[in-house]
Amino acid sequence: MERRDFIKDCGILCVGAVGLSALLQGCSTSNYFAKTVVDTKRISVKKSEFTFTDGEKIKERKYVLVRIAQSEFPICLYKHSESEYSALLMYCPHKGCELLAQGEYLVCPCHGSEFTNKGKVLNPPADQDLQQFKTTVDNENIYIQF
Ligand code: FES
Repeated sequence: MERRDFIKDCGILCVGAVGLSALLQGCSTSNYFAKTVVDTKRISVKKSEFTFTDGEKIKERKYVLVRIAQSEFPICLYKHSESEYSALLMYCPHKGCELLAQGEYLVCPCHGSEFTNKGKVLNPPADQDLQQFKTTVDNENIYIQF
């Protein structure tokens, strides 16, 4: 291998490593399971669970994931504004696969159905919207009602 080709290959490898690192960092922050407080009728999630620090910058998550004892499937809690949230069960109504959260959408890895961040079917084969839980808020918390 000539010196020029070696330098070129190393440059491509470095750019790829930086890109992969950024991609993995994005995944780790986007699939964050929130700390919760559970009582008999609701789950509480602190609004502060939607923020995190990246170095010295404060960033905001579009959603957090919430585990619930009543289901093997988590809830994806999307933030639309300070007072509006959607709590969606990550269960695909087509054949029951667990959905993946990808930005503003939920995607089914089994047959490709897609849903909006408010649980509406965007692409088939699923033909039903996602199960959604009522949410309420106060100054500090979001409450997911059962
Ligand atoms: S189980 Fe989700 S699209 Fe089929």
